[in-house]
Amino acid sequence: MLRKEFDAQIIRPDKKGSLTYIRIPFDAAKEFHSRGRIKVEGTINGFSFRSSLIPKGNGVYILPIDKKMQKEIGLVDSDVLHVIMKPDSVYTGSEVHTGIEKIEACNIDVLSAIRERRSIRKFSDKEIDEKVLNTILEAGLCAPSAKNKRPWHFIVIREKEALNSLSRKDSNHKPIAEAACCIVVCGDKNVQGMNEFLYEDCAASIQNILLASYGLGVGTVWCGLHTGSDSYKFLVEKLQLPVKIVPIAAIALGYPAENRGSEDRFDLVKIHSEKW
Ligand SMILES: Cc1cc2nc3c(=O)[nH]c(=O)nc-3n(C[C@H](O)[C@H](O)[C@H](O)COP(=O)(O)O)c2cc1C
Repeated sequence: MLRKEFDAQIIRPDKKGSLTYIRIPFDAAKEFHSRGRIKVEGTINGFSFRSSLIPKGNGVYILPIDKKMQKEIGLVDSDVLHVIMKPDSVYTGSEVHTGIEKIEACNIDVLSAIRERRSIRKFSDKEIDEKVLNTILEAGLCAPSAKNKRPWHFIVIREKEALNSLSRKDSNHKPIAEAACCIVVCGDKNVQGMNEFLYEDCAASIQNILLASYGLGVGTVWCGLHTGSDSYKFLVEKLQLPVKIVPIAAIALGYPAENRGSEDRFDLVKIHSEKW
């Protein structure tokens, strides 16, 4: 994996309006096998960042540290920064992960899954094994997103006490108490700056999770989270979410203990041709 770890001195030019930056102590184009714009991600003093390097010629690159980043990092305390940096995986493709077991295929075709899936609110005691859960999470990670930013994070809650507490925060979230686990889908505001896209991207990943679960025989219900609601506040605190991360939905998962038939939802009234 292309990953660099180094300490760098912060440089604050005297001129007003000039960039505050750090100088990259290696030729980033060479080290990251990059051509053109070099997009990087990583952490500075433990805080995550995603940015582009600015070329200064002769293999020299700088990383601008904007005001927001300076505040997050707490530059007042420390002028030497510890940096972990690698090429931005959004642009270079994912890293290769080995040893993560997943299910290769299921017996249901995509159209049947879309038509038959229903929300399940009663679950049996059966646990969901890691292989099945990994496959479901992978489905979430495969969703489309604006500019391929993939701003989602998935937090799996399995602890019974936490599931019980969460379910009690909202009368619509009772099924979470019975669930084998819950996936809290969160969005990173720094990665997808436009709020609409952040929610749309995460909704696409949620739907993938629901459909993949159905295909694997796992029941789900999408539990919506209102900003500022008791559930929302509980999750921010319990999951120790950084300010840039917003919880968007909680999906309860478990093997179904109810049988809900499919509904024919084809509705010509909703379909328009050429104009309203
Ligand atoms: C944004 C959103 C929020 C939802 N929130 C809840 C919820 O809090 N509790 C719940 O039981 N179901 C919730 N649902 C599930 C809907 O009630 C369900 O999808 C709808 O009634 C259609 O039923 P079906 O999923 O069986 O097709 C939510 C669904 C969406 C898309």
